[in-house]
Amino acid sequence: MAILEWDESMSVGVYLIDEQHKELVVLINNIADAVKASASVSEVSRFIRRFYNYTIVHFQTEESLMDHNSYADYFTQVREHLDCSTKALEFHRRFVEEAEFDLVEFLEYIVGWFRGHTTGIDQGLTEYLVVRGQTHLEKSGKA
Ligand SMILES: [Fe+2]
Ligand SMILES: [Fe+2]
Repeated sequence: MAILEWDESMSVGVYLIDEQHKELVVLINNIADAVKASASVSEVSRFIRRFYNYTIVHFQTEESLMDHNSYADYFTQVREHLDCSTKALEFHRRFVEEAEFDLVEFLEYIVGWFRGHTTGIDQGLTEYLVVRGQTHLEKSGKA
């Protein structure tokens, strides 16, 4: 069973963002599956790097869509993104450098962060983007 599954409660109602969030779910599950299968350090490390790299892409997408002059939660968004990236980097370092380092805590953190962030502050992006006429991002059907 997947450690994290996409469901509509996570939708922010904007197609581009939802698709990127779904990709993050896949990448988180790839890490969990590799850990569960007792994959080598280099293989698990590769999955963590893929996840980390894609968070940077996704965070840049969201941050480029917000304007700090008009989006009230801009700085909170960026801070939560940085929290996630920093944690991923630190857990990754410890996993590579410390023998027998257990990634369970990282997986619990990242699943909790993802659920909290996408059902929390990311939801505010919908109204903001639609109000700004970002229709090229395609609404994905959420009212
Ligand atoms: Fe975000
Ligand atoms: Fe997001």
